[in-house]
Amino acid sequence: MPIWLIYSFSSVLLVLTAVAVFFFIFTRGALILRSFGSSRDSAEHIYPIYSNMRLIKLIDIQPLIAAILLFQYDKLVSMITDEILKMNLHGKDALITSCAFGNVIPRVVSACNEADVRKVFIVDIIKNELVNARRKLTAYDKKIELLEENALQVGLADNSIDANIIFFLLHELPHDLKGAALKEAVRTLAPGGKLFLAEFHRPAPWVLRTLSWTYFKVFEPLGLALWNTHDPLKQLEAIGGLTCQRRTVFFGNFQVIVATKN
Ligand SMILES: C[S@@+](CC[C@H](N)C(=O)[O-])C[C@H]1O[C@@H](n2cnc3c(N)ncnc32)[C@H](O)[C@@H]1O
Repeated sequence: MPIWLIYSFSSVLLVLTAVAVFFFIFTRGALILRSFGSSRDSAEHIYPIYSNMRLIKLIDIQPLIAAILLFQYDKLVSMITDEILKMNLHGKDALITSCAFGNVIPRVVSACNEADVRKVFIVDIIKNELVNARRKLTAYDKKIELLEENALQVGLADNSIDANIIFFLLHELPHDLKGAALKEAVRTLAPGGKLFLAEFHRPAPWVLRTLSWTYFKVFEPLGLALWNTHDPLKQLEAIGGLTCQRRTVFFGNFQVIVATKN
C-alpha cells in the first residue's frame, strides 16, 4: 500500500476518533460524572454541549450537524416545513419545543411566517440555547417569543397552539419524561392543530441497525427505547384524541410523525 494512502487513512481515523472522544466527553461522559454528584435538578439530563455557550458556538455548524444526522437533516426539516406551508396559521400560534442545532429553527419560523402565523413560541430549559436561537432569528424579532421553560410544563394555555415542532428531543429525555413531554405537547395543541415530531427510528437493514445500536449504547443510551418500549407513535396513540401518521427515511433510521388533534 502506498505511504500516502496509509497517511491519509491514519489522519482520517485520527480526526474521527478525536471528534468521537470530544463528543463523548461533552455528552454522555459529562452525565456519568454528574451522576456521582448530589445535585438533582430538572436540567441534569442536559449535555454541556447545550448549556455552555462556547461549546454551542463550536458545534452549531450546519455541515457537522447534517453529518450527525447522516446528511438527512435537510430532508427531515423539509418534511416538517412542507406540511406547515400547507397550513393556514392566520391569527394562530406555533410552538417549537426545545431548540436544536443547525437551521431547523429559522426554517420552521420562516415556514410559519409564510403560513401567516401570529406568534412562534420557542421553549427551552437552557437560556444559552434560546440566546443562540435568537441570533438566527433577527429577521423575525416581532414574530417570536422565547420562553425559558421545561418542555414538561410549558406556561401556555390548553388548546392554544396550532403547530408544535419537536425536533430530536425525545431521545435525550429520561424514559419517564418522554411520555410526559408528549402529553404536555398534546395538552397545548388546539383541535385541528398538528404536532410534528422528528426522531430516530429502528433501521430496517441489520448493518445499519448494528451501527445505530452501537452509537446509542456509547453516546445516547436513552435513545434506544424509541425503537421499542417508548415508540413515540405508540405513546401518542395511547394518549388518544389524535390522528397520527409516521413516515420513515434513510432505511428507517429516522422518522417524522405528524399527529393531528381531533
Ligand atoms: C432538541 S434536543 C437535541 C437536538 C439535536 N441533537 C440537534 O441539535 O440537532 C436539545 C435541546 O433540547 C433542550 N432540552 C432538553 N430537555 C429539555 C426539557 N425538558 N425542556 C426544554 N428543553 C429541553 C436542550 O436544552 C437543547 O437545547
